[in-house]
Amino acid sequence: MDIKTIISQMTLEEKAGLCSGSDFWHTKAVERLGVPSIMLSDGPHGLRRQRKDSDIPNESIEAVCFPTGSAAACSFDRELFRTLGEAIGRECQAEDVQVILGPAVNMKRSPLCGRNFEYLSEDPCLAGELAASQIAGTESQGVGTSLKHFAANNQETRRMTVSAELDERTLREIYLAQFETAVKKGKPSTLMCSYNRINGVYSSENKRLLTDILRGEWGFDGLVMSDWGAVNRRPEGIAAGLDLEMPASNGVTDQEIVEAVKEGRLAESDLDVCVERVLWLVEKTMSARRPEASFDREADHQLARKLAAQCMVLLKNENNLLPLDGKKPVAFLGAFAKEPRFQGGGSSHINAWKVTSALEAAQGKYQVTYAQGYPTGKDEIDEALLAEAVETAKNAYAAVVFAGLPDSFESEGFDRSHMNMPRCHNALIEAVCRVQPNTVVVLHNGSPVEMPWLPQAPALLEAYLAGEASGGAVTDLLFGEENPSGRLAETFPKRLADTPSFLNFPGEPKKVEYREGIFIGYRYYDKKEMEVLFPFGYGLSYTQFQYSGMRVSRQKFTDQETVAVSLKVKNTGSRPGREVVQLYVESLPGPQKKMIRPVRELKGFEKVFLLPGEEKEVAFSLDSRAFACYSESLGGWFVESGDYVLTAAKSSREPVLCQTVTVQGTKALPCRFTMESSVEELMEHEKARQLLQELIFHSTTGMEGGNMGEGSEAMEEAMMREMPLRSFRSFGGVSTGQLQELLEKITK
Ligand code: BGC
Repeated sequence: MDIKTIISQMTLEEKAGLCSGSDFWHTKAVERLGVPSIMLSDGPHGLRRQRKDSDIPNESIEAVCFPTGSAAACSFDRELFRTLGEAIGRECQAEDVQVILGPAVNMKRSPLCGRNFEYLSEDPCLAGELAASQIAGTESQGVGTSLKHFAANNQETRRMTVSAELDERTLREIYLAQFETAVKKGKPSTLMCSYNRINGVYSSENKRLLTDILRGEWGFDGLVMSDWGAVNRRPEGIAAGLDLEMPASNGVTDQEIVEAVKEGRLAESDLDVCVERVLWLVEKTMSARRPEASFDREADHQLARKLAAQCMVLLKNENNLLPLDGKKPVAFLGAFAKEPRFQGGGSSHINAWKVTSALEAAQGKYQVTYAQGYPTGKDEIDEALLAEAVETAKNAYAAVVFAGLPDSFESEGFDRSHMNMPRCHNALIEAVCRVQPNTVVVLHNGSPVEMPWLPQAPALLEAYLAGEASGGAVTDLLFGEENPSGRLAETFPKRLADTPSFLNFPGEPKKVEYREGIFIGYRYYDKKEMEVLFPFGYGLSYTQFQYSGMRVSRQKFTDQETVAVSLKVKNTGSRPGREVVQLYVESLPGPQKKMIRPVRELKGFEKVFLLPGEEKEVAFSLDSRAFACYSESLGGWFVESGDYVLTAAKSSREPVLCQTVTVQGTKALPCRFTMESSVEELMEHEKARQLLQELIFHSTTGMEGGNMGEGSEAMEEAMMREMPLRSFRSFGGVSTGQLQELLEKITK
């Protein structure tokens, strides 16, 4: 396809038309010029492709539902994400889908966000790295991905109009960083803009976001599409860099584009850029199309089971209750044992090919009994079901209670208003724990819940929404066929009121202020030294791991250099297992450290598989970004000079080994001195310090006012330190002219 020639032959109407879909899932074809249409489908954890024989947009083909983002991220495993991406790519090829709409990497600002089950983490490093691997996996199959939802789409409430109000540092460090990593490392063919506004400007017409940052700073060279129905003003969107509007606008916005060009409000060259990118995507994906491709659903189902087992997180295991003895009778209690909740509601909902429940997976292999325990999808307790479950529990050697959140409690489209599980689920756990000391709780939920029963439950497995094969994975873990290796990709707080965005979620009718700033997730809880249920990065195993020999390649370096970090990890237990080594960076206080920072931030992670007794070296490489902050005044990233602790840890709260390094920053924050600059600020700048000292020497600076009581010396010292330059006129007998002269000399 000769794109330039095609564009030169297109009419204005054809160009405008190409910039929106032909229907819900296809781009337009331009038949007279040989431009075919391509198909886009959801995403992100499996294929939701509309059936060819159906006009109903959401009637989709059967496909394999892999673990959702909430579960998959707990793997902390790039390889797993790559495998997941490849599998989804293969299914897309077989079903003739050119672009899959995912992965979704919005930060989990609040546990209440209805769509958290699709999102990966509260940490941008983890989300960005994992998404990059999934993207690379899918794209390797010749299928495009669409990284979404760009950006700051962290709630469902009024998601189509709300304005996320946040400062530049927070935007860059927390809400854009994961997109940046995924774009740079994963190289997605497309990116989907979000519905919401950011500081008042809709993402769909946000030139700064879609062009200046995305393309200018990060080098993205793919196509930007709208979320479904996210377009506000189409011509402005074209000018901002929104190439494709989805779904079809039924010609309305095509006409608006044509008029805007004719009236000179939109440059045709801007439209041509968007057209070129649509044609580029069509060409790229159609030339990689493999019409003869097929996929093996059973193999993918088995893969989904294997992946799910590597995602689930063992959160509690008193007296090594797990793994269970497969030869003794075990009671499976709770409707989720028979009908697991394995995915969420909304656009990611897959017509799952085959669903295996834990009960089905265990029956015939282990001695399991079953009782429903609670009514499906309800909050109220059913006393008869409860009593039956308690009796079943009593008659077994151990009980496994399957509980969590039903579909009606969380979904795309709305946020939760509380973190409670249904009363009937809590009641079942409590009642079973009272009669059965060997009780294991298995949770199926897309986001953290409060756990009033936790002290009574000796074992807890967080299974999240782990895809259609989650039942098999749960059984494999419960009976020790697999060893748990998931680690929480988000903090589990004790209660909703503890969460960082509690006072500002979901905000006011038109806006939501991100007042907690960069302090979301563990960055907040750790800084506040707050007790949590389970910290970020936490998870247990049936074996033990020992860390040793942490080394850094250099102790002192500049922010232009990288540092290599390595350590050894040994499996000291008796089972094969996977360990997640997490590398955090902590900025120690120092004379040149001015920025408010989290206690420590995740900057690297590696998952290693180890046989009993086996030891492996784990290596990381950190560049300047691992130490950097974003400065609005600098308009970029910079490293504060000073000491940093590199910590190899098992969670954000469990440091194991550490090394301190000294980093020399090469970019200084701009110093623009004014009459309001304080003595303290001026003293840090060599030239300013000298000039100020000279001036003070000749002045009469001092505090008048007699004895102001004990501590007056300290007060005088503090006042002097913090005094703005202008006050030297009152306290120092210095004239305005002298101060202006000083400022001029400093900036010369
Ligand atoms: C969702 C997107 C999804 C699209 C198409 C939107 O409502 O926000 O994530 O890809 O619909 O189904």
